Amino acid sequence: MGTTDLFDLDGKVALVTGASRGIGEEIARLLAQQGAHVIVSSRKREDCEAVANAIREAGGSAEAHACHVGRLDDIHAIFEHVRARHGRLDILVNNAAANPYFGHILDTDLTSFEKTVEVNLRGYFFMSVEAGKLMREHGGGAIVNTASVNALQPGDRQGIYSITKAAVVNMTRAFAKECGPLGIRVNALLPGLTKTKFAGALFEDEALYQSWMAQIPLRRHAEPREMAGTVLYLVSDASSYTNGECIVVDGGLTI
Ligand SMILES: NC(=O)c1ccc[n+]([C@@H]2O[C@H](COP(=O)([O-])OP(=O)(O)OC[C@H]3O[C@@H](n4cnc5c(N)ncnc54)[C@H](OP(=O)(O)O)[C@@H]3O)[C@@H](O)[C@H]2O)c1
Repeated sequence: MGTTDLFDLDGKVALVTGASRGIGEEIARLLAQQGAHVIVSSRKREDCEAVANAIREAGGSAEAHACHVGRLDDIHAIFEHVRARHGRLDILVNNAAANPYFGHILDTDLTSFEKTVEVNLRGYFFMSVEAGKLMREHGGGAIVNTASVNALQPGDRQGIYSITKAAVVNMTRAFAKECGPLGIRVNALLPGLTKTKFAGALFEDEALYQSWMAQIPLRRHAEPREMAGTVLYLVSDASSYTNGECIVVDGGLTI
C-alpha cells in the first residue's frame, strides 16, 4: 500500500456539522477531495448548498442538508435522510458549536447556559448515538468531535463554553470505550485560536489578540484549513489504531 492510500476516503459517506463556513467547511472540502461523499450540514441550508456546490465544481461529491444540532427532531430527521438515501454512514464530524455568552461566569444566564449545553453537549451526544447505531450495522466507522483547547484550560469569560468542551473530551473517551468493540473509532480535535466568525471577538479586541499571540509559540493564529488535516488523519486508515485520542492543534499554546 502506498502512503497516499492511507488517506483515501473513496466510497465513504461523511456527515460534517457546522460545515457551511470556518473549520467545518475546510473539513468538508478536504474529505471530499479525498473521495468521500460529504453531507454538508448547518442550520442554514442555502449556506450549506454553496459549499456543496463548490465541492461539486471542484470534482467532488456533496449534498447539503439543514440540521440544528440543538434540536433533537432535526437530529432524527437528518439520520432518517442518511439512512433512506445512503443506507450507511462511515464518518461523522461533530463540529457545530455555540458560544452565546462571553462574560464573567457568575453572570451566566439560564438561556445561554441551556443553549450552550443543548448544542455543544446534547447535540454532539445524540448525533454520536444516531451515527453509532448506523455504523454498527455496517461494521464500523469513525467519529471526530471538534472540542477546543478550552477543554484543557478554561477560556477567560468563556466558562460554560469551556465546560461543555471539557465534557466533549470525556464524551469522546466514553464513546471510544463502548463503541470500539463495534469497530467505531471516536477521537477529538482540540483547536487553538483559529480565524473564523466564531472567534471574531478575540480578533476584534487588539489587546486580547496580542495577549494570545504572546502565549502562542508559533506567534500566529491558525487558518481554518490548518485544522482539516488532523480530521482527515482521524477519519482515515492512517489512524486505524487511534481511538479515544484528543489531538491538540494550537501552535503550542498549551505547552
Ligand atoms: N475558531 C476558533 O478559534 C476555535 C477554537 C477552538 C474550537 N473551535 C471549535 O471549532 C468548531 C467550529 O467553529 P468555527 O470557528 O469554524 O466557527 P464558525 O466559522 O462560526 O462556524 C460555525 C458553524 O457551525 C454552524 N452552526 C452554528 N450553530 C449551529 C447549530 N446549532 N446547529 C448546526 N450548525 C450550527 C454554523 O452555520 P449556521 O449558522 O448555518 O448554523 C457554521 O457552519 C466549533 O466546535 C468551535 O467550538 C473554534
